[in-house]
Amino acid sequence: MNSRQELPSWQFLVEHAQQMKKQHLNDLFANDVQRFDKFSIKLPHLLLDYSKNLVTQETMTGLIKLAQDCEIEQWRDKMFSGEKINLTENRAVLHTALRDRSGEALILDGENITETINTELAKMEDFVRKVRQGEWKGHSGKRITDIVNIGVGGSNLGPQMVTEALKNHSDNSVNVHYVSNVDGAQIAEVLRPLDPASVLFVVSSKTFTTTETITNARTAKSWLTSASFDDEAVKHHFVAVTSNLKNATEFGIGADNIFSMWDWVGGRFSLWSAIGLPIALDMGFDKFMALLEGAHQMDRHFDETPLETNTPVILALLSLWNTTFLGSQSQAILPYDQTLHMLAAYLQQAEMESNGKSVSWSGEDIDYQTVPSIWGGVGINGQHAFYQYLHQSKNIIPADFIGSIESSTPVKGHHETLMSNFFAQTEALMSGVNEQQVREDLKAKGRTQEYIDQLAPHKVHQGNRPTNTILLDRIDPLSLGGLIALYEHKIFVQGIILQVCSFDQWGVELGKGLAAKIQTELAEDGEVGEHDSSTTNLINYYKQMRFGK
Ligand code: F6P
Repeated sequence: MNSRQELPSWQFLVEHAQQMKKQHLNDLFANDVQRFDKFSIKLPHLLLDYSKNLVTQETMTGLIKLAQDCEIEQWRDKMFSGEKINLTENRAVLHTALRDRSGEALILDGENITETINTELAKMEDFVRKVRQGEWKGHSGKRITDIVNIGVGGSNLGPQMVTEALKNHSDNSVNVHYVSNVDGAQIAEVLRPLDPASVLFVVSSKTFTTTETITNARTAKSWLTSASFDDEAVKHHFVAVTSNLKNATEFGIGADNIFSMWDWVGGRFSLWSAIGLPIALDMGFDKFMALLEGAHQMDRHFDETPLETNTPVILALLSLWNTTFLGSQSQAILPYDQTLHMLAAYLQQAEMESNGKSVSWSGEDIDYQTVPSIWGGVGINGQHAFYQYLHQSKNIIPADFIGSIESSTPVKGHHETLMSNFFAQTEALMSGVNEQQVREDLKAKGRTQEYIDQLAPHKVHQGNRPTNTILLDRIDPLSLGGLIALYEHKIFVQGIILQVCSFDQWGVELGKGLAAKIQTELAEDGEVGEHDSSTTNLINYYKQMRFGK
């Protein structure tokens, strides 16, 4: 038992969960006409309705008590003020500082990082203007028309998700492309239609050591230089975003063309830094700043609002409730907006890389469920794919439904069809349909008794499946910034309560190290023999079939 489980508030929730498992959401709604008012929060650009969760006022009071016992407010202050809360790497966690334009000094290890951030933003602004206005020329003097961002994980998912979400806010001054996979198919496909004379590569890698990114960057470099350009061309066609100046310079990128990253910004929280450069190149610097402002407004809400009405806190507590106390193992992210089609992939990294851990801060094994696995996709397509599972499988999958009042791309007659499905799904997941209702319905349709007896059990939906509804006014830089920051802070709160180190990712290292060893073995002659028999035989079979060695 770790110290969290010893808390009376934790123990209360364990017992309370057993009682709540016997409840049905239909009854909770029937018994309380004010349920929506009690369990929803309205913010300037967003409405959160969490009333379709298996909670009562007693549950919420218990969860808030747990948050207080875990000193959420104190931890929040530590994060905002730059204490080194990334315990295993002894680093501050200051993505919030990247979007704080108040100008207030923030001193970290003797350095005023507000100034550092402002300097970098000014450099970005200047660069973005030059590229978008055609002032920045390629090696042969041509205007830049295409940006190719090369990066993976946090150096890809955030910028690409935002670029997709805000497609309608781009003025198409440049076309932005993303390459993340080391599978040559992706870079080949992206480069095929492009003219090397008018392409600018942004190599985004905090460490500048990630093999996949460096491999893609080298391929891009030789594509450029083999197009009758010399090595000098790299200076006109490559910029980097990194904290590893040395490696980026050795790669051939001019020091002036290197944008900074810092160890106090985690990769998966970095789109607010120069890692967001492709966003700014696509939409313009002002809109990038609006994205930051939206996130900053959410930071203020998180920092200043009592826990009871604090949206990131509430979302974190509900996830904890559904997962750790009620036993769900996964959670679906279901945007009803085509532009948010990468949101689930983005949140997968944000939440799973942050909190998918099983030892506590002090290194003890944790014997409670930490975070759920995150998956999902755009709602309507999901309805015709995996929603069957959401409605009738043995597993309860809590889901976040995210929609917007205004359509991103108004096309007559479409938005109401989309949104009627949005509302219908959370209603259906919650209320279900019992056998009596099914039988009455079939009878009303004139079906035979035999047919009704046979079909009725298949048409029963138990309901009682928890959902959150997040309704944005519209999807624009301001609201999207807020939405992303909402999830960032949710993840932070979850991590504190679960007592996991949310800001490291040691679980990614093991596979990386093994892959490097195997890559050497693939290049050597002869069979390998030092792995387990499965891996050894697989590698040898591959080598034999591919190289005949
Ligand atoms: O996927 C593991 C990871 O370490 C992520 O945390 C990070 O966002 C990604 O690799 C890319 O790292 P880098 O920006 O250093 O290339």
